[in-house]
Amino acid sequence: MKITFLGHATLQIEVAGKHIIVDPFITANELAKKIDVNSIKADYILITHAHQDHILDVEQIAKNTGAKVVSNFEIVTHFEAKSIKGHPMNHGGSWNFNFGKLTYVNAVHTSSFPDGSYGGNPGGFILETTEANIYIAGDTALTMDMKLIPLQCKIDLAILPIGDNFTMGIDSAVLAANFVECDKILGVHYDTFGYIKINHQEAKEKFKKANKELILLKVGASLTI
Ligand code: NI
Ligand code: MN
Repeated sequence: MKITFLGHATLQIEVAGKHIIVDPFITANELAKKIDVNSIKADYILITHAHQDHILDVEQIAKNTGAKVVSNFEIVTHFEAKSIKGHPMNHGGSWNFNFGKLTYVNAVHTSSFPDGSYGGNPGGFILETTEANIYIAGDTALTMDMKLIPLQCKIDLAILPIGDNFTMGIDSAVLAANFVECDKILGVHYDTFGYIKINHQEAKEKFKKANKELILLKVGASLTI
């Protein structure tokens, strides 16, 4: 499984020969200027919640690629009304896709669309594949529900928001990594806006003290698990 960081909370995951985009927010992200949204390959677009900084480029990518949107029922319905195909899920539900098994899990956050319309409840995803299992937390607070995840699945990489203010910050993210029983963390949702700028060195040291590795990828860089 190859995971490429496209800035903010946007990821491209290549697994089982499929391309999966998570929470595309590229064209309004100053830090992702070198990413060309029109060259992105996608078979699926996973959306954790309806906020602008997670859905901005969904329509453009879906229309360029024919990718299918996977999210909660309300978000999928919203995009289906724009003639984008989708697969609706809801919390606690799993489905076997042709790239692996996805489960939509709880997140503590909000989920309105930019115009204020209802975007369902926010979530995260557990992705289980023959190559690796990952947890994509989405925007969330630290929550006890994270403790349920390792009861069901061994997580190889936890993708956690670490920017604070709108989501967990570093200290909570260390606890979240404990809750999901994972020592390898990819940080997202930091540095994009003034409220969420972080000190990278300090963040890495806090995880190291807890015997965990925090990975902070440059925009456009990848890791393989
Ligand atoms: Ni959000
Ligand atoms: Mn966000």
